Amino acid sequence: MSFHAVPPVGRFRAAAGTPAWHPGRVIVGVGIDVVDLVRFEQSLERTPGLRARLFTEAERALPVRSLAARFAAKEALAKALGAPRGLLWTDAEIRREPDGRPSLRVDGTVAAAARDRGVTHWHVSLSHDGGVATAVVVAEARADESPERSER
Ligand SMILES: CC(C)(COP(=O)(O)OP(=O)(O)OC[C@H]1O[C@@H](n2cnc3c(N)ncnc32)[C@H](O)[C@@H]1OP(=O)(O)O)[C@@H](O)C(=O)NCCC(=O)NCCS
Repeated sequence: MSFHAVPPVGRFRAAAGTPAWHPGRVIVGVGIDVVDLVRFEQSLERTPGLRARLFTEAERALPVRSLAARFAAKEALAKALGAPRGLLWTDAEIRREPDGRPSLRVDGTVAAAARDRGVTHWHVSLSHDGGVATAVVVAEARADESPERSER
């Protein structure tokens, strides 16, 4: 399966190399989710095939806390898109960049829903501690191509 990379582009970068402010882009969606680690692990153990349905091959071997955070990121991604029907969990993949930052790659059903909404760039942040995992996803579009602008 080929995932479309969403390269960080722009003139302005934060000190650690994280893309900061991008002129010409607007936020068109935001999503957040939280997952109980014990309940999530029980679901994985109880339901044969669930791990393969939710996670790409590259994600599956990660520890439960990282899987739970990636599940939260996929729920957050769905919320950022307005939770359309028909998204395949494995059409989204959260990768770990060499410096530890997560990045989001989309394919198939998710890429199509993103395209419909003009989404060109994703931002994702994960956390896990104290029995929960959580994630926030931000979707950006080009200001000159965002649906809001074309409706004007
Ligand atoms: C809509 C959905 C995201 C809700 O998730 P959930 O875990 O049941 O609910 P949460 O407790 O995390 O969040 C509830 C909040 O979601 C928000 N929400 C509900 N529908 C939404 C939508 N269509 N778009 C964005 N946010 C929505 C609401 O703010 C809601 O809070 P409220 O009930 O107080 O108003 C979930 O039912 C869903 O459709 N998941 C997508 C599954 C999917 O597509 N997976 C593949 C992704 S790659």
